Amino acid sequence: KNESTVSITVVGASGDLAKKKIFPALFALYYEDCLPKHFTVFGYARSKMTDAELRNMVSKTLTCRIDKRENCSEKMDQFLKRCFYHSGQYDSQENFTELDKKLKEHEGGRLSNRLFYLSIPPNIFIDAVKCASTSASSANGWTRVIVEKPFGRDSESSAALTKSLKQYLDEEQIFRIDHYLGKELVENLSVLRFSNLIFEPLWSRQYIRNVQLIFSEDFGTEGRGGYFDHYGIIRDIMQNHLLQILALFAMETPVSLDAEDIRNEKVKVLRSMRPIRLEDVVIGQYKSHIKGGITYPAYTDDKTVPKDSLTPTFAAAALFIDNARWDGVPFLMKAGKALHNKRIRVQFRHVPGNLYNRNFGTDLDRGTNELVIRVQPDEAIYLKINNKVPGLGMRLDHSNLNLHYAARYSKEIPDAYERLLLDAIEGERRLFIRSDELDAAWSLFTPVLKELEEKRLFLSTIHMVVGDLLGLTIFQQDTTSDGETLG
Ligand code: BG6
Repeated sequence: KNESTVSITVVGASGDLAKKKIFPALFALYYEDCLPKHFTVFGYARSKMTDAELRNMVSKTLTCRIDKRENCSEKMDQFLKRCFYHSGQYDSQENFTELDKKLKEHEGGRLSNRLFYLSIPPNIFIDAVKCASTSASSANGWTRVIVEKPFGRDSESSAALTKSLKQYLDEEQIFRIDHYLGKELVENLSVLRFSNLIFEPLWSRQYIRNVQLIFSEDFGTEGRGGYFDHYGIIRDIMQNHLLQILALFAMETPVSLDAEDIRNEKVKVLRSMRPIRLEDVVIGQYKSHIKGGITYPAYTDDKTVPKDSLTPTFAAAALFIDNARWDGVPFLMKAGKALHNKRIRVQFRHVPGNLYNRNFGTDLDRGTNELVIRVQPDEAIYLKINNKVPGLGMRLDHSNLNLHYAARYSKEIPDAYERLLLDAIEGERRLFIRSDELDAAWSLFTPVLKELEEKRLFLSTIHMVVGDLLGLTIFQQDTTSDGETLG
């Protein structure tokens, strides 16, 4: 009876995120024996469904890792037996009270811990949080709520959301997810920097010329146009995923690896940044194009997107950190749908008075050293160095010192959601966003977002005609104030 149990309720169980990420991640944790002995998973949504129907739906989403195929179907069956469904409205205290009753039955009088994963649209967040916390929170253990972005659309709406959440929950109960923080190579960024003597001394304006944070996907917004059109690429990717990587990359050494110490450093660096200026931003939208004989649709061909939408699906921006370490170094963000993969590229300065300048041939870049962290897919970390081409002459070449994950490790890399769900269950907050971090992140982007939206007409009339570059309509084009181009 003194044992504890964890009940995980996926609110919005029939949604895309739940099916694609949350249930598969829970199963992977179960397979790896990472979930507590006593756990139950509840799907909660409006549609009527039986437990068997939920299990059937979930079963279609489960897979085993390539290196873990033994007993796979047996494990799946065992996992599915722990999954249940409760149908209810998101704003009904009564329905959440019924859920509470069911949870209690499964908990069997043990110490109960409850995790709610809100996988629902933002307009019903607060209703669901209110009902979950007042009618279905644990009486004797912890209650935690995982929330997914969008956390508002700008500083004001984000602050209002935080305020409403805090009416029902304490900050320690709120786990704001940014799944990029759960990615293997993003976690490795700090290890690389703080546990290798060769990197940290170079990590500053003295040696680094620019840092590029590049997100590009090889698919469009298919099926998510309705959500996306309201937010755009800056809110969808830059304000959160790329900015989080930037903060981890640029922060000072934390006092320890404790959640508060790391988050304190991230907030500090975010607060040292200048809000982004319109002149340092380029936006665009993907158009229809033909590749390999296949016609790919334009963003506005999506039925859920207004035909005259000016929502950017591509953006590039130069950000600056006004502190002693990074003064004048552009952090270049580039994010786009319907392009290609995700990486962090660090370009070092030129070797002063390089003896071998003449031997680089026609290479205008003169052997810039680069550290590249390919976040996904085909994870890798490589360092571009200069070396001599073998032979009697003296010609230099760039080569990669390459840590290619697939070649080095036979293990499949866990999905980001696995790590984050496990951390939430264990109460580890290091990889979740604190409210002051969120405020700092919004204050960097809110002014430029407002300006872009206010100048909507101007952009549409003047810049839509600027050009059609690789299937992309560029609305506005500029280089950074440092004269760097955006690649
Ligand atoms: C989500 C965005 O947060 O991240 C999506 O809303 C995007 O638009 C996705 O496709 C990318 O995640 P990943 O893990 O595939 O890089």
